[in-house]
Amino acid sequence: MRDCHREIAKWLTAAGAEVTVDAAGNLRGFYAAAQSVAPRLLIGSHLDTIPNAGVYDGVLGVAIAVALLEALEGRRLPFGIEVVGFSEEEGVRFGTPFIGSRALVGSLDEELLNRQDANGVAVRTVIERFGLNPAEIPRAALADDTLAYLEFHIEQGPILESLGLPLGVVEAIAAQTRLEFAFLGRANHAGTTPMHLRHDAVAAAAEWIIAVERTAQSHPGLLATVGQIEAEPGAANVIAREARVTLDLRHESDDICGRAADMLIRLAEEIAERRGLTLRRRVLLSQRRVAMDPYLVDQIGEAIRKIGCEPHRMVSGAGHDAMILAEIVPAAMIFLRSPGGISHDPAESVEVADVAKALECGLQLLDQLASSSELQKRMCRA
Ligand code: HGY
Ligand code: MN
Ligand code: MN
Repeated sequence: MRDCHREIAKWLTAAGAEVTVDAAGNLRGFYAAAQSVAPRLLIGSHLDTIPNAGVYDGVLGVAIAVALLEALEGRRLPFGIEVVGFSEEEGVRFGTPFIGSRALVGSLDEELLNRQDANGVAVRTVIERFGLNPAEIPRAALADDTLAYLEFHIEQGPILESLGLPLGVVEAIAAQTRLEFAFLGRANHAGTTPMHLRHDAVAAAAEWIIAVERTAQSHPGLLATVGQIEAEPGAANVIAREARVTLDLRHESDDICGRAADMLIRLAEEIAERRGLTLRRRVLLSQRRVAMDPYLVDQIGEAIRKIGCEPHRMVSGAGHDAMILAEIVPAAMIFLRSPGGISHDPAESVEVADVAKALECGLQLLDQLASSSELQKRMCRA
């Protein structure tokens, strides 16, 4: 992350922005407005990613934001532009996502700072080891002169490619629930314990995982994923004492996502009880569906049309920092086509021509917002 900050800070400085790193490790580059007192527009995405990732998820949005500053070639607008590279969006290390963007909306609280990784290292400690001071986190919060937040991001799915379109307009971001379960059984010898006397944690988890898949297959639009499984003691000749699994649930409807979570929790409890095990569970995330700002969605649609493309409105199945920023400022997202619909894998890619279209759309959008009476009104309120 330090190398990433160093490289992007060079680009930002060369484009005329003032660079800082806030106490949550977010990289922030401020490109001043034409006047000294003016509101600001945030454009950003996340710099962290997942294990064995592609090279576009998150960082492409920050690179496009930097490229927009470069394309302005020193031209100043009626609002400043703050480029943000969020430090932690995926939730891989601590289980809970959006740690970086929560600092901007004031919800990076004590509970989250004390959240520990698999080695018992707390978020707070990791921030200190990076050379930052958690006590300064309140200063990372957005100033009240922020007009809006824009995020360019790869779609990470097959829709735009199936429509033959380079760009999409995000209308809303789907609800997302992340849970962690531990099936707690009894370790025993694999060679001497009869099948009817076992309390096998992995077998219990496996029965539940198949039920998770069947539940999602029978509920249209419900996506359920068990992405992580850990067994203890984890030896081939030992019946597992503990099986820890994660559940990632997504749906466009909060109600369906919530009901699916309740159903799968009950099912885990029933399987554990029937097999003579106990169950431990933890909620890692319960994120409601978030609508993007209708005015910005319209403006993005108009910008896409103006550059000669058809604006396709869509709901994002992937979570994004925009859903956190939307808690306190109008937020909107522009999607770029994902060839093969692939993401969260080294095969993730983008078309260079689509990135060029995204830049064209971004410049068109900045011009529209710079001359927009609605934004003038919002500026006065900011
Ligand atoms: O998991 C997601 O939805 C995103 O990649 N953070
Ligand atoms: Mn991701
Ligand atoms: Mn992402």
